[in-house]
Amino acid sequence: MLRVNFILVLIVAVTAGLAATPALAEMPVEVLAAIKSEASGMPGFQGFSAERGEKFFKTKHNHNLSCSSCHTDNPAAQGKHSETDKVIKPLAPAANEERFTDMKKVAKWFKRNCNDVLDRECTPQEKGDVLTYLLTVHK
Ligand code: HEC
Repeated sequence: MLRVNFILVLIVAVTAGLAATPALAEMPVEVLAAIKSEASGMPGFQGFSAERGEKFFKTKHNHNLSCSSCHTDNPAAQGKHSETDKVIKPLAPAANEERFTDMKKVAKWFKRNCNDVLDRECTPQEKGDVLTYLLTVHK
């Protein structure tokens, strides 16, 4: 009887503990899934491509700027802000586990950086291609 009670207490404790755990941050694959559901609503959407993402990332768009101007051609490496010289931690999730774990942060920086580089926001297709590429980059 004592043993049964002990197990019951244990179950209750574990369940309560789980319920009290704060909502976990997103995983990069979940962020990608969210971008995908956005992109799926666009006409002609046929999935994301790491190759297209890499090209987009490394191509100079407006103002002679590319994503790699600050994040470098190797997203697993530390970057440097093209204007302020401030150090930027690696963008690839394999090299920096904090990347693409906070939907709000991702949205904020995509918006700001795409506006700097393209003078417009990135489309869901572009964002998904870039993240698909970044997920293929290893340390
Ligand atoms: C002028 C410099 C600069 C350029 C160009 C730039 N970025 Fe960034 N990027 C930053 C800085 C600064 C941060 C925020 C600091 C940090 O998170 O380390 C950042 C953060 C990000 C993040 C946040 C990721 C996360 O989860 O932490 C994403 C996504 C991103 N950049 C994508 C891009 C893409 C895509 C391009 C090209 C369209 C681009 N950046 C071009 C400077 C730049």
